[in-house]
Amino acid sequence: MVSTIISSIEGVSVEELATRYGSPLFVVSERQLRQNIQGLFTAFQSRYSDVVYGWSYKTNYSSAIAQILHQEGAWAEVVSKFEYEKARSLGIDGDKIIFNGPYKPKNILQQAVIEGAHIHVDHFDELTLLQEIGTELNHVIPLTLRLNFETGFSESWSRFGFNIENGQALAAAHQIKKSAVLKLQGLHSHIGTFILDTRAYAAQTRIMCAFMEVVEEATGCEINSLDMGGGFVSHHAMQGIKLPENQIVPTMDDYAEAICTPLLRFVTKRLKQGKPQPRLILESGRAMVDDAVHLITRVVATKKLPNGQRAAILDAGVNLFSLGHWYDHKIQLTQKHEGDRNPTNLYGPLCMNTDIIRHQIPLPPLTYNDRLIISPMGAYNHSQSLQFIEYRPNVVMIYKNGSMSTICRAENLKTVTFQENIQSF
Ligand SMILES: Cc1ncc(COP(=O)(O)O)c(C=O)c1O
Repeated sequence: MVSTIISSIEGVSVEELATRYGSPLFVVSERQLRQNIQGLFTAFQSRYSDVVYGWSYKTNYSSAIAQILHQEGAWAEVVSKFEYEKARSLGIDGDKIIFNGPYKPKNILQQAVIEGAHIHVDHFDELTLLQEIGTELNHVIPLTLRLNFETGFSESWSRFGFNIENGQALAAAHQIKKSAVLKLQGLHSHIGTFILDTRAYAAQTRIMCAFMEVVEEATGCEINSLDMGGGFVSHHAMQGIKLPENQIVPTMDDYAEAICTPLLRFVTKRLKQGKPQPRLILESGRAMVDDAVHLITRVVATKKLPNGQRAAILDAGVNLFSLGHWYDHKIQLTQKHEGDRNPTNLYGPLCMNTDIIRHQIPLPPLTYNDRLIISPMGAYNHSQSLQFIEYRPNVVMIYKNGSMSTICRAENLKTVTFQENIQSF
């Protein structure tokens, strides 16, 4: 999709940004980030009184972005030793870290247990490891079980966590019950990503609440948190979806309504039985950061292909843009161009046939040095970017007060070869 011309980002001209910081360039808006997280808190806290939000670190590894979200009250949601260490290095205490993921090596799991992190168990082997750690430390470890199940509205991510339908989840709860060093107190599920149908969340909530009753009844445990994961959309179009954006993209209020309505019904019943209200945890990633980041790129060459179609080579390719194959990112010009819009193929700078930004996008004739803006770019692009053929570029933040700074410097030969070692003969 090509829409309007965008000559500035957060009031700063694209030309000035590219001249000062180079091209390609990731540009982050502090204002948009804060607006997104505040929007999530408002939508959920206006409906439910005990809400925790964990920033899903893998969505974007920028420390400056994490810092802003933490300032706004986010906990950290991490899925590896690296991410756990990163959250700790940013000053996040263990008790504000949610530790998810299918692989948590023993040393980091042990540290997380000691530091009071919220451990979300993914499989039986991890339960065995936690039993070992609890025994060695002589420490009772509070646990959350990651669950998977069919909502009927989105494909189940059944490779993560314990399945409810086949009895595995209840079996895990019984195993925890038998342990002297493990204690079940939370339930979690992350049903997928870019979920457009909010009925999936209503179903997820009903299934989690029903399972909570079952597991409490069967094992005598007391569940004090329900973590609904992430998956809320950003303002984007997934390839293959042709409806207008405003018809299909739910708002944060829509998601909050879908989750909080069945949750409140369940909690009201629970409170009448004298049971406590569980905490609601959310782990939205892309919806927090995607639209807060733009990528400035430059045309480094134009061509006519043998079939007569136009082509342009950009200085940013799939090395920076890993989600280009899944989503139709907005591609905007920075100034008015004369000439007919004709199908144009946009390629990246890599000497690889697969480095394709977009096939046949209607564009006016481009020329050398024209700039294009690709967005939204904040979710999973920089964190999955590759140092492959090209160096990774600068990432700059535009702050609310109008100031700017580089929040991640471009790579160079020294930084890229820093870890290498050549044997001297
Ligand atoms: C456990 C968990 N929580 C949260 C997220 C964030 O998801 P999203 O960016 O779709 O909101 C993910 C992403 O895969 C995840 O695996």
